[in-house]
Amino acid sequence: MRGLPPVIAIDGPSGTGKGTLAARVALELGWHLLDSGALYRLVGLHATARGVALEDEPAVAALAASLPAEFRAAGELLHIFLDGREVTDAVRSEIAGTGASIVAVLPAVRAALLDRQHGFRRPPGLVADGRDMGTVVFPDAPLKIFLTASAEVRAERRYKQLKDKGNDVNLPELLEDIRRRDERDEQRAVSPLKPAVDAVILDTTELGIVEVEQRVRQLIRDRHLN
Ligand code: C5P
Repeated sequence: MRGLPPVIAIDGPSGTGKGTLAARVALELGWHLLDSGALYRLVGLHATARGVALEDEPAVAALAASLPAEFRAAGELLHIFLDGREVTDAVRSEIAGTGASIVAVLPAVRAALLDRQHGFRRPPGLVADGRDMGTVVFPDAPLKIFLTASAEVRAERRYKQLKDKGNDVNLPELLEDIRRRDERDEQRAVSPLKPAVDAVILDTTELGIVEVEQRVRQLIRDRHLN
């Protein structure tokens, strides 16, 4: 794949700090950012808004193929628009996450989003965050990182995030939801959540974001990507 801009693939389950890490690395390098989870979340929201059942594969795939979405980066923040309306907060809701993991099992939906994801690969480079960036979407990425953390720690992080935003949340329910979503992501037939064979695995259960960033910066230098 000589000639194509380089990609740093950052995969792993939700609550591992993937999104924050990807945004910071992209900002530091001055590279583009792909939040692929947001695409699946948008497909779910769009289907619901159009009255399409999330399990209706051909109809959801048709919506995914012409998703009227736009991403605008502002520093570490990514503003997301659907049909011209800002949906940045709605995209991050628990309901959008659950919807995303339902449409994400549908092969036709994944196929419909593939070209769009490849379109984010523009000079000088791309940091891509998701579940299958290193395994399926950008298998030639020169650096693949897989972040993990225990479900308990991820639930606590999510609890704190939601609570800080003034939401009424319940920790056992969040943990249950994370476990259910992990299972759906790991067990699905197409693009299941798993590290690429050449991925560097970083466990963030005890590593803080600063330490994770340091390790990733070192990997970027080692591979001459900066
Ligand atoms: O990363 P995020 O939590 O935003 O992803 C929401 C859901 O979208 C995940 O639980 C997963 O089911 C799905 N997803 C996926 N493949 C990706 C990114 C997200 O299947 N590359």
